[in-house]
Amino acid sequence: MSHLPHLIAKLENHAEWVKRLVLVGQKSWHTPLQKGGWSPAEVIHHFHRWDDFARNYRFIPFLAGRATFTAGAHAKFNEQSEREVRDGLGKEAIIVQCLKSRYALIETVEKLREEAWEQTLTIGDHDLSIHTYLQGVIEHDRHHREQIEQFFSLEQQGKLPMVNITERCGEELPMNLLLLADPEQAMIERYLSGGLGFLAEVEGTPVGVIVLKDKGQGLFEVNIAVAEQEQGKGYGKLLLLHGIHVALKRGADRIEIGTGNSSIGQLALYQRCGFSITAVDKDFFTKHYREPIVEQGIRCEHMIRLAQDLK
Ligand code: COA
Repeated sequence: MSHLPHLIAKLENHAEWVKRLVLVGQKSWHTPLQKGGWSPAEVIHHFHRWDDFARNYRFIPFLAGRATFTAGAHAKFNEQSEREVRDGLGKEAIIVQCLKSRYALIETVEKLREEAWEQTLTIGDHDLSIHTYLQGVIEHDRHHREQIEQFFSLEQQGKLPMVNITERCGEELPMNLLLLADPEQAMIERYLSGGLGFLAEVEGTPVGVIVLKDKGQGLFEVNIAVAEQEQGKGYGKLLLLHGIHVALKRGADRIEIGTGNSSIGQLALYQRCGFSITAVDKDFFTKHYREPIVEQGIRCEHMIRLAQDLK
């Protein structure tokens, strides 16, 4: 029987859990789990180095026919993780990095043939199967997840709101929310057609939407909105990370988002979630929108395009 679907599901569950930690408050995110120990920020950040290490120094060489490895080569990357968190790397960037490394690992693990699973690899003095090695990665995930969950049940204020995100077709997405992101209904209809929609709900009430559009050649474009009375609670960040997660699951190479020059909060949010400015579409809003748009006293004229590589 194939072990693979079961193990991949566990690797993916971990990504799903990490993504939801974006709702954790800043104070809890940086509080040590125990005296003198790591905070959730440091624990989550070190996952991506473990995944990159497993992929680059174990699975990829193993797939190329190597079976003998030196032990202990990973000690220094725990220190690197601590340093980057101390230097101010944000929660969203840490989580995005963790998701990217996890899906790169999954893509590599999926290349293993069934007969390779029980093949022996030697790490230092230890002989183990690649299956046992991967179970070690999953055990490492589980250990830290329990540690963090225990911390949050002790830290009452750290408890996360239950946000349910489900895939929906275009007609099931509330138009009033979509209009917040784009006042032109014709523009909305264009990106809804063939788009992949998701609705976020809290206790059955819609709080936000995200739509991903497959533009071909591995590129996904994103549109996002959160209900006005629900803004500033972290749902936008969670939905954006959800969009990145869906694009990774679908093997996308790159993800894009656009916003107006006057949307200062959105520009901050997108860059915190790993997007970089790639282009300015001069006069996009003055050319394509009938009504003038003004935000915080700034006339919205140009489209700022942002993107990030997923591989
Ligand atoms: N300076 C710095 N950061 C800012 C900021 C500012 N002036 N304004 C917002 N931000 C960033 C911060 O990263 C903030 O996170 P923090 O609370 O940790 O500081 C984050 O924005 C807000 O995150 P969150 O609460 O998750 O966002 P949200 O739930 O309010 O959703 C939008 C964000 C953009 C989806 C929401 O405001 C919205 O729907 N707006 C109208 C529609 C829209 O503009 N859609 C996008 C079209 S391009």
